[in-house]
Amino acid sequence: MSSRLPIAEKLEWGKFVSPISDRNTSPYNWYSFKHRFGSGLVENIFNSFSLKKGDIVFDPFCGGGTTLIKAKTTGYNAIGLDISPFAVFLTNSLTTSYNSIRLRKILEKITHRANREILIPDVDILRKAFSDSALQYIFSLKKTIELFDTPERDFFLLCLLTILNSVSKAKKSGGFLRITCRRRSGPLSIKKTFMETCERFIQDVEQLKLNGNLVKAYIGDARHYPFWLKNKKFDAILTSPPYPNRHDYTRIYELELLVGFITSNKALKELRYDTLRSHVEAKKKHNPKGYHYPSLLLSLVEKLQERPLNNPRIIPTLEGYFEDMYLSLREMSKVIKKRGKIGIVVSNVRFAGIVIPVDELLGIIGEQVGLKIKNIHILRYRGNSSQQMLEYKRVPNRESLVIFEK
Ligand SMILES: C[S@@+](CC[C@H](N)C(=O)[O-])C[C@H]1O[C@@H](n2cnc3c(N)ncnc32)[C@H](O)[C@@H]1O
Repeated sequence: MSSRLPIAEKLEWGKFVSPISDRNTSPYNWYSFKHRFGSGLVENIFNSFSLKKGDIVFDPFCGGGTTLIKAKTTGYNAIGLDISPFAVFLTNSLTTSYNSIRLRKILEKITHRANREILIPDVDILRKAFSDSALQYIFSLKKTIELFDTPERDFFLLCLLTILNSVSKAKKSGGFLRITCRRRSGPLSIKKTFMETCERFIQDVEQLKLNGNLVKAYIGDARHYPFWLKNKKFDAILTSPPYPNRHDYTRIYELELLVGFITSNKALKELRYDTLRSHVEAKKKHNPKGYHYPSLLLSLVEKLQERPLNNPRIIPTLEGYFEDMYLSLREMSKVIKKRGKIGIVVSNVRFAGIVIPVDELLGIIGEQVGLKIKNIHILRYRGNSSQQMLEYKRVPNRESLVIFEK
């Protein structure tokens, strides 16, 4: 561990890292986005950044939208960015104010009309996860939902995407989507689950108090911002990029992407290749001009080269991950106001028994783009995969909050 970096435990925030802390809080619990951080963590970080009401916050990897939802409910404005159209949709649909009376009227119409013959995208995983009649029903329901205007259209599409896993044979399992032996639901049971979900969310809508702050997410690449974003200045940035643990979000959320936003395998693969290089299938997209390969990373890669690795792409992926994070940090440093704070939640990873201290490496790389490293708060320690434990014993992996200041 580099002694120069300000690393210390802040374990009292640890219980808020996982989305389990929001399991009873709507709208966070409407859709189970596994890679979400808890809203309590966001609240603590906002408070520690001493933000003022009306300040504007940015999350360049907005995922399930926790930063934006919390901003909206506590009086800040916020912008989110994500490369996945599903994540952007999720964030926007969870931060919208809905009218429960209108939703109830539309729900009746939707479920009566959803019975048309529809062309289904010819993608293997859809056929494995659902029966033919279920697919017909799901896509016909989606087509009917699309006849309505926003925001109600988004509300009902969100309800549909929310139930996909529970009515299919697919199960999100770690970094994968697994096909299980579970029975697939037929159209009638899907209709019932859909209606119950809509009803539950409508009851929540009646209680929810979203204020008028402006929050919106957009599709974009955190390594290279769209032109309109380059001129913005934010009071704070709070984000959580993918961890270099090989989880591929385009596989984990494949059903949601295919039902909602992407119509072919080719388009899905293109998205997969374009994501941050946190998994072995992502490809290099941008040139990290000015990046200095950290000597700490070099020494770890040398150790890894001496170990048996179960995939030859692990080392190039790790190297690519830090190049991509250099680009992401460089973009963040351009849009954060002077003395503005940037909080990044990451986890260390372990390959063949070698721990990669992602938090420290980001601290070192952040300084390359002109950011000042203020703290690395260790939030909690996590276990290792059973394979790592068996071969290399248990070494707790820390999950940390890296704080920079401009
Ligand atoms: C750990 S999740 C973020 C979770 C978020 N903090 C929350 O609470 O829901 C990381 C997100 O990064 C997105 N992502 C991957 N590559 C990206 C890129 N190049 N630019 C922007 N977003 C990207 C993924 O789609 C995923 O939604």
